[in-house]
Amino acid sequence: MDNPRKMWNEKFSDKKVYLYEPIGFIRDNLSRIKKSKLLDLACGYGKNSVFLAENGFEITAVDISDKALQIFREEIIARGLKINLVQAEVRNFIGTLRPRTFDSVLISRFKPDNLIIGKIYEVLQPGGIFILVSLNIKHKTVNSQPFPEECYLQEKEFIDAHPGLEIELYEEFVFQGAYYNGYIFRKTA
Ligand SMILES: C[S@@+](CC[C@H](N)C(=O)[O-])C[C@H]1O[C@@H](n2cnc3c(N)ncnc32)[C@H](O)[C@@H]1O
Repeated sequence: MDNPRKMWNEKFSDKKVYLYEPIGFIRDNLSRIKKSKLLDLACGYGKNSVFLAENGFEITAVDISDKALQIFREEIIARGLKINLVQAEVRNFIGTLRPRTFDSVLISRFKPDNLIIGKIYEVLQPGGIFILVSLNIKHKTVNSQPFPEECYLQEKEFIDAHPGLEIELYEEFVFQGAYYNGYIFRKTA
């Protein structure tokens, strides 16, 4: 994708109502996510981060789209929350972080590459948790919703994502009519 910021800004201009209901996998596995410092990469308008902040997490949320962050900022103010928002490209941002600075990292509905996974391993504390949720490729066959190709995961695609990230949970699930894959990894060393 040539200009993801432009494309996502256009998407976030379309919608009028933004629902603050987290992905079910995150709500259902809340007790597995390690407190308190959590990094939400490609956070969008903050549907998951708002839920996590209201459940006691200290969030840094990053997205390339200033439109998404504008919607997110308004919600943060309306709810009286404190969330550190950063407008940045994920790879650029994560490269600036010091190792072992987060207890958990979340990626929801954005497909990471090996560079991102390697950096996530570095920025996690030992014993830290990485939660990855994204649309399963199956979703494409039942729904013509035009998500960019890089949003879709193949089944079990990330099971062996990194030798230092041990898989604790893998699920294929349907949430609000969409097919998803969810992973929870723990940094083992
Ligand atoms: C499908 S939305 C998911 C948002 C949120 N994580 C959720 O689950 O609702 C994908 C998000 O990724 C962001 N994004 C796309 N490419 C990005 C990049 N290279 N760096 C940072 N954010 C990016 C978009 O702006 C958009 O907010």
